[in-house]
Amino acid sequence: MKLWLLVALLLLWSQLENGLCQDFRRRKDSNESRGKLIGKRVKGRPPKLKERDPQGRGGTLLTQVLDKGRFLRLGDSLTVPAGKDLELRCKGSRVGWTYPTYLDRFNESRLSIKQQDKFSQLMLTSPSAADTGEYSCWVVLCDGAECEKDPDRTSSTYIYFADKDELFVPSMVYTEIVYLRPDRPAVVPCRVTTPHTRVTLHREVPPGEVSASYKPTSGFLITDPMPEHMGVVYCKATAKGTMQISNKYQLLYVEVPSGPPFATIEASATSVRGGDNVNITCTVLGEPELDVDFTWTYPGQDQRPVDIYGAWRLIARGVGHTTRISQSVLMLEDMETIDFGRYTCRAKNRHGETSVATRLEPL
Ligand SMILES: *[C@@H]1O[C@H](CO)[C@@H](O)[C@H](O)[C@H]1NC(C)=O
Ligand SMILES: *[C@@H]1O[C@H](CO)[C@@H](O)[C@H](O)[C@H]1NC(C)=O
Ligand SMILES: *[C@@H]1O[C@H](CO)[C@@H](O)[C@H](O)[C@H]1NC(C)=O
Repeated sequence: MKLWLLVALLLLWSQLENGLCQDFRRRKDSNESRGKLIGKRVKGRPPKLKERDPQGRGGTLLTQVLDKGRFLRLGDSLTVPAGKDLELRCKGSRVGWTYPTYLDRFNESRLSIKQQDKFSQLMLTSPSAADTGEYSCWVVLCDGAECEKDPDRTSSTYIYFADKDELFVPSMVYTEIVYLRPDRPAVVPCRVTTPHTRVTLHREVPPGEVSASYKPTSGFLITDPMPEHMGVVYCKATAKGTMQISNKYQLLYVEVPSGPPFATIEASATSVRGGDNVNITCTVLGEPELDVDFTWTYPGQDQRPVDIYGAWRLIARGVGHTTRISQSVLMLEDMETIDFGRYTCRAKNRHGETSVATRLEPL
């Protein structure tokens, strides 16, 4: 290889390495980036773990910078008044951060992150009740292009931006939809801006209080969702004599649990004569994103041609809820003696498999 080409390739490679690490620092979802970066791992080069400093272990990496150069080590949560600028520091010469997704979507200019020699600095100007949420940071370990989050050196704290006019963390949507599924708990996400606020959950029609356990960092947990929970609910908060009502939440019950497909089979006729045409339809109702595979077993298999036609479509069922109808149709033309008997449809999704069958009898 020509020398100049080699030099150019080396330069390009070092640029790529830098680029990757920069990218990692900006990324929010640590899981995602980790997966991606591991995908780029070069075999045969054991990662040299740089910048180990045992002091970071055990203790928190996160501190809040107070006035006059004083620092506060942060624990699980922190309550600060909304409106007052916030400065956090995280120990490490290469640090990654996560913060409420809201800050990425709206007015990012209020948030700035600067890496200094020994720490990273997160500044949030004019924080509001909406910035309430989890803030975390971790040490990034890089070996060339390979960067990883150090699982031993990560700290997080939930920050409440207290605002007496906004007892609830504001949300952009006026009515949110919460899906209730029989196989998992549901959360009504009305979060508060001050930890010890008294909060209750209420149904609109018929009016009444709903009992559920409350966590200020996530909302109300409905452990066993049932069809009776369907309807519109809202949360009510009381603090220091003021009472406020949250946004509304539309609770929708999704009948189809995540499990093997729920399949039905139907023939256009079950008592048929030789020479008739028959269609046998296998139908599955399921979640919109769930693919279904169909396979058929039938008397004339491998002996006569049949047409098998598959399709799926989405249908709206109630407000904001969609169901996927997946169908496979087996079309028999000109029935013969060998075609009488049992027709079995096997429907399979990633959770399992269901078989349904029907018989075609001579008339
Ligand atoms: C992140 O990783 C944890 C464990 O490694 C896993 O349980 C979780 O589902 C992942 N989250 C996402 C969004 O991939
Ligand atoms: C963004 O934040 C700045 C500083 O807090 C504020 O002056 C400005 O009005 C905000 N812009 C929007 C679009 O919210
Ligand atoms: C079977 O389905 C095809 C396509 O939808 C249709 O044209 C035909 O009439 C159907 N035959 C019977 C017997 O229902």
